[in-house]
Amino acid sequence: MPFIDALPKAELHVHLEGTLEPDEMFRLAARNGITLPWASPDALRAHYSFTGLEHFLPLYFEGCAVLRSREDFYDLTAAYLRRAASESVRRAEMFFGPQTFLDRHIPIVDQLGGILDAIADARSDTGTVGALIVTAQRHRTEAAALELLDTLRPFRDSILGVGLGSAERGNPPSKFARFFAAARAEGYRLTCHAGEEGPPSYIREALDLCGVERIDHGYTAVRDPGLVARLADDGIPLTMCPLSNLRLRVTADLSTYPVTDFMRAGVLVTVNSDDPPYFGGYVNDNYTALQQHLGLGSGELAALARNSFLGSFADRSEVDRALAAVTAHEATVA
Ligand code: HPA
Ligand code: ZN
Repeated sequence: MPFIDALPKAELHVHLEGTLEPDEMFRLAARNGITLPWASPDALRAHYSFTGLEHFLPLYFEGCAVLRSREDFYDLTAAYLRRAASESVRRAEMFFGPQTFLDRHIPIVDQLGGILDAIADARSDTGTVGALIVTAQRHRTEAAALELLDTLRPFRDSILGVGLGSAERGNPPSKFARFFAAARAEGYRLTCHAGEEGPPSYIREALDLCGVERIDHGYTAVRDPGLVARLADDGIPLTMCPLSNLRLRVTADLSTYPVTDFMRAGVLVTVNSDDPPYFGGYVNDNYTALQQHLGLGSGELAALARNSFLGSFADRSEVDRALAAVTAHEATVA
């Protein structure tokens, strides 16, 4: 088995709704009596060409219409976690944005109940540890995000953390400072999409005004060397998504993707898939794309895998076991 396929890793940046494969979308549409605006999975795939995040998001939300019942959320999560296990993902911290479905009057217990049941079953079937990070949508108000925290309260102990997703430009982290403060008071781990399309100042705001522990994407830090040094000094992990950044035109070319520059600067960079079917690859495709375009060797790939556990919200014993597994795998090529 090639080195990357069997390399133990964590995935820290994947949107559950964004793992919906076209064939599965059509299967769920038929199950729920929903007519999709595309004639077939291939017709849908023909739309997977994006000019940027705000061009992608409407299509992503359209696909969400097929997710209705507890069983739908179960099937979605189970399929992703099966795939993750097959790619040697030992831990997956998965984003999910309930506001889309609350708008459609789908009870939170159906949404999270299905997801949490699939996480429990995947753990006993494959050993892969799944955890849930609920995202608020930043194009909505902070009041809506605070209301979401109220809605989540019965599930507080089953949710690892909270974050922010959706359209970044014009919706800076500062808009959600009270949301993050309230979430911290409830004991959630905190992460935030920042620096995908937004400027480096959005990354600084997420750290300084929202107190987040991790930055999702963080790509535009490449324009701010002082910020890169600060991310390194403060041990702030970046959950980068190369194929997503390519497909959403955040980066023009993976041969200049800054992952090695960030690593050399001491930043805890991780590699992830974001919305795999939409962007042309799961997590191992992302590692492979970097291997091919940047000429990464097994030592650098193993360092990225170590970072994925070090940057996770797992407890120390889980991290230590995973790091030992990465080292054991690395020894197989030595
Ligand atoms: N950025 C912000 N929100 C998202 C993304 C993304 O790449 N994917 C799904 N929701
Ligand atoms: Zn994302």
